[in-house]
Amino acid sequence: MVERIQQLRDEAEAAIAAAADDGSLEELRVRYLGRKAELTAVLRGIAELPPAERGPVGKAGNSARQGLEALIETRRQALRATELDDRLAADVIDVTLPGTPPVGVGHLHLLTRTRREIEDIFIGLGYRVLEGPEIEHDYYNFTALNHPPGHPARMLQDTFYVDPGTLPPESSVARRGAGAGDDPAGPAGNPPPAHYGPRDVLLRTHASPVQIRAMESAGPPIFIVVPGKVYRRDSDATHTPMFHQIEGLAVTEDVTLADLQGTLQEAAKAIFGEERETRLRPHYFPFTEPSVEVDVSCFQCHGTGSRDSGERCNLCKGVGWLEVLGAGMVDPNVFGFVRERGYDPELSQGFAFGMGIERIAMLKHGIPDLRIFFENDVRFLGQFS
Ligand code: DAH
Repeated sequence: MVERIQQLRDEAEAAIAAAADDGSLEELRVRYLGRKAELTAVLRGIAELPPAERGPVGKAGNSARQGLEALIETRRQALRATELDDRLAADVIDVTLPGTPPVGVGHLHLLTRTRREIEDIFIGLGYRVLEGPEIEHDYYNFTALNHPPGHPARMLQDTFYVDPGTLPPESSVARRGAGAGDDPAGPAGNPPPAHYGPRDVLLRTHASPVQIRAMESAGPPIFIVVPGKVYRRDSDATHTPMFHQIEGLAVTEDVTLADLQGTLQEAAKAIFGEERETRLRPHYFPFTEPSVEVDVSCFQCHGTGSRDSGERCNLCKGVGWLEVLGAGMVDPNVFGFVRERGYDPELSQGFAFGMGIERIAMLKHGIPDLRIFFENDVRFLGQFS
C-alpha cells in the first residue's frame, strides 16, 4: 500500500510540474486529492487496515497529501507570476504618447497662411515685418502720403471716421512713429497735423500710413513689409468693410523702378509659380511718382487669354494678365514729411507697393466671393488645411 502511495505521489508530482496553466492544475488537484481520488480513499480506509499497516500507510498517505497540496500551491503561484509577466510584456502601453483628440486640432485660416507666405518671401529678400495702428490719424493716412486738402484723392476711398471721445484711453492713437520717442509732434518734429477730413481719427483705409511711421522712427536705408487690417465703406462680392493688405517700402541709395520690377517679379514667381511674368502699367497714386499697377501673367491660361478648349479664360477675362497690386517710386513730397529723419526729398530714392491679401488668395485658389473668407463656414475653411 505504501508503495502504491509512493507511485501515486510520483505520478502526481510529474503531472503538476508539467501543468501549463491554472485550469489543468485544478484538474490535477481534483484527480489526486479530490473526494473521489485514490489517495483520499486510502486515507479514508485506514481504520479498516490491519493494525500493523495503519501507522506506515497513514504516515505515507498524509505526507503525500500535504506534499502534493504544497506543490500544487507553489506551482499555481509560479504559473500566475509568469502569466502576469507575459501579459505585461504583451500589453505595452506608452503612456507618454499623445492621446487621440475627439476632433482634429484645426489649421490656420487661408488668409493667415497667405499672409505668412508673402511675409516669408520678403523676409527672404531682407525685409523686416512691421505693424502699425488700425485706428489712425488723418495725417498719417492721407496728409503725409501727399493727399493735399481738397485733393480728389481723399475722395477715392470711403473712410470710416471715429469719434475719439468713444475710444478708451489705452487705445488712443499715438501720433508718433512705431517705437519712437514721446514727443507728441513726432520725432520728425512735424507740426500738429491738421485734419482735412470730417474728423481727425479714422480707421485706416490702407496699410500705407505705416510707411510714414516707420520713416519717422528710423532713417534710411529701410526695407519693410507691413501686414494688417484696413477698412473701407464698401460691401459686395469683391469688397468687405474690413480686409487685409501688405504694404512694402524700400528706401536706399540708387534704388530705381527696375529694382521695384525685379522685386515684384520675384515675389510673383514665389506666390504664383516660376513661369509667371509681370508687367507694369502706368497708374496714379498720390504718394508715388511714377505710379504703376502690376499685373501677373494669368496662371490659368498661361497668358494666352483662352483655355485649351478655345473658350475665353474666365480668370483673367481673356486679357491674359491679372492685376495684383499697386506700386511706384516714393513721391519726393512724402519724403518731405520725414525730412528731419534723414530723408532728403531731393536725394532720397525708394519704392513702395501695396497688395490685398484676400485678392492674392482668391486668385491663387480660384475663390469667387470675398465675403466667404469671413463667414467661417468650416466646409470652406477645411479645404485649405
Ligand atoms: N495704398 C494703396 C491702396 O490701398 C495701395 C498702394 C499703391 C500702396 C501704391 C503703395 C503704392 O505703397 O506705392 O490702394
